[in-house]
Amino acid sequence: MDIEAQKRQAAAVAVEWVRPGMRLGLGTGSTARHFVELLAERVRGGLNVVGVPTSETTRADAQRLGVPLTTLDETPELDMTVDGADEIGPDLTLIKGGGGALLREKIVAAASARMVVIADESKWVKMLGRFPLPVEVMPFGLAATRRKVEAAAASAGCPGPAVLRQGRDGHAFVTDGGHWILDASLDRIPDARLLAERLSIIPGVVEHGLFIGLAQAAILAGPAGARVVERS
Ligand code: A5P
Repeated sequence: MDIEAQKRQAAAVAVEWVRPGMRLGLGTGSTARHFVELLAERVRGGLNVVGVPTSETTRADAQRLGVPLTTLDETPELDMTVDGADEIGPDLTLIKGGGGALLREKIVAAASARMVVIADESKWVKMLGRFPLPVEVMPFGLAATRRKVEAAAASAGCPGPAVLRQGRDGHAFVTDGGHWILDASLDRIPDARLLAERLSIIPGVVEHGLFIGLAQAAILAGPAGARVVERS
């Protein structure tokens, strides 16, 4: 089974967890797109749900596929968010934001009674950090903020450079919120909670890609099938 088939299998298990009437957070990325596609098939079959997209890309996909949408302003409490991740640690702490949607993803996950992560097995890691940590920042004062991000990472035991993400046009990648992203190459994050605390207090940091205590379950698909990991 190739990686895309594994992602789709994880998404298929998550779709089985959807119940009529649910208010859903719809994640962003290639794995979440499989979920939206499979959910749309169920909607066409008569399933009644409503979704809050975590990015303009997911909004466009869901609209095109006919998944009914709402907003957190109309529907501030959601039943379940289904989203991908860039790395998943053993306690279901996540690195997210490889697709640049971390801010809305975190807001939507925090508004949900349950967050379910869907991924292929390659995302499962013993220690977070191999994937560069996305940190969403204000464009104003970038150089000063970058220095503070690097200092915060070093003080949390994971020194490494934070590099401004480039878009396809060669300019800074701009998030749906109009911010920029620093990708911090930290290699190993020994204490995600400490790093999260230090990043959160930096003026200019809008949000970081560490998702701590948000995911309740992960559906991980590999060549031998899918397994579910629940946060204890
Ligand atoms: C989007 O900002 C990310 O958080 C994605 O959820 C993450 O990058 C996983 O994407 P894939 O499913 O494409 O690997």
